[in-house]
Amino acid sequence: MITLASPKQPPIEQQKDWYPYYAGFTSAFVTDVFKSYLELAKSVVDPWNGSGTTTAVAASRSVTSMGIDINPALSVVARARLTPKSIADSLAPIAADIAAAAEKSTPAKREHDPLLVWLGPAASNEIRKLQRAIHLVTAADDALEVDLSTGDESAPSRLPLITAFFYSALFAATRDLLRRFRGSNPTWMVAPTSPHKRLRPRPETIRVAFTDRVDYLSSRLQIIKPDSNELASILTGRASVILSDQHSFDACLTSPPYATRIDYIKSSAPELSVLGLSTDFITTLRQQSTGTPLVRGVNRIEGDIPEEAQDLVERVAGHESHGSANYYAPWLRNYLAEIHKALELIAARVKPAGRIALVVQDSYYKSLHIDLQKLVTASLGAAGRSLIAQHDFPVRHALSNMNANARRHLPIRKHRESLLVFE
Ligand SMILES: C[S@@+](CC[C@H](N)C(=O)[O-])C[C@H]1O[C@@H](n2cnc3c(N)ncnc32)[C@H](O)[C@@H]1O
Repeated sequence: MITLASPKQPPIEQQKDWYPYYAGFTSAFVTDVFKSYLELAKSVVDPWNGSGTTTAVAASRSVTSMGIDINPALSVVARARLTPKSIADSLAPIAADIAAAAEKSTPAKREHDPLLVWLGPAASNEIRKLQRAIHLVTAADDALEVDLSTGDESAPSRLPLITAFFYSALFAATRDLLRRFRGSNPTWMVAPTSPHKRLRPRPETIRVAFTDRVDYLSSRLQIIKPDSNELASILTGRASVILSDQHSFDACLTSPPYATRIDYIKSSAPELSVLGLSTDFITTLRQQSTGTPLVRGVNRIEGDIPEEAQDLVERVAGHESHGSANYYAPWLRNYLAEIHKALELIAARVKPAGRIALVVQDSYYKSLHIDLQKLVTASLGAAGRSLIAQHDFPVRHALSNMNANARRHLPIRKHRESLLVFE
């Protein structure tokens, strides 16, 4: 019997991951999936790559990979994770140079800096100084900063590894500084109720938070072979758009957004603010994310969906509760149509003899069970792929159970997260 490490860790343990991305799966789980099911694959694609667990584990196993994510900040993290362990000792001295360069520099103040939501002007400015100093000391092309903040799909892969590494340390340090604004739900960052309640950490505190994160991240690098990073390409953009334009892969290992209306982009507000993305661009990213809770400006996905999916949408539309027919059912249809389309594309890009490994979680709409396991199996079945293995893991921290309102009206539900393997 095959046993696998769990895909997720409890939230407190997640803070100890290479990067604290709440939706990330563990390296131990991805390693087990490679060993148990993808041993023969020489190339793998993850179209919802997030913080880059798949691409990092693939590189450490000398497997060629491509990781796609709509979130440019996470693509930077995924790139940074490819930094080889062999240079770990040189990162602390470079961080000291960055901190010294930041102390001396006086970058122009930005008028509408997104960091000003949580931080006073001097603290926001200090983070900008560190950002400038990262470019200066790592000799990164400044144009890349613009490319990252306007959605150039290949910008993350052109970013020098150590630039991506220090950006990730600055992201994590900013997240540490803003921990007071974390909501009870791990995807929320609350804003202070008035500008007076913004934080005003001293410049030295910010620089120490940065160098501490450099130490932490460099002690946990996992790529042993110095040139393995060349095996991974990290792209930023919509999975369905980028996949349409790719060659074929031996395997796919991924975890799509679930039917829980999580706003992944909003949950990365600290990282996206460090990148300096404009509010308009952030709104576009939110609109283009699969499963976005937004309604306005979202792409409507046309085309048929499998019978099981259509049947569920009709049951939701017929539910007596307010908003079922007008909001939730159209949202669910669009979500399922997008997942279906992406799975069709994945099936077309993975070689016929190759395997597709998906991690999905079920959820509930009121009393109706959204059996995502069954729905994705139907979509891949229609594309000629059959389920050869399933591993179920109990979910201890389901978001719907964290929502106080849902808790009041519904019994605590048992959720399952599953690895589904198709051939
Ligand atoms: C469940 S998470 C995957 C986490 C990943 N396995 C990891 O270890 O970090 C789903 C990811 O899909 C991304 N995403 C959402 N909509 C997308 C889209 N249309 N195209 C590409 N990525 C998208 C989100 O940004 C999020 O990082």
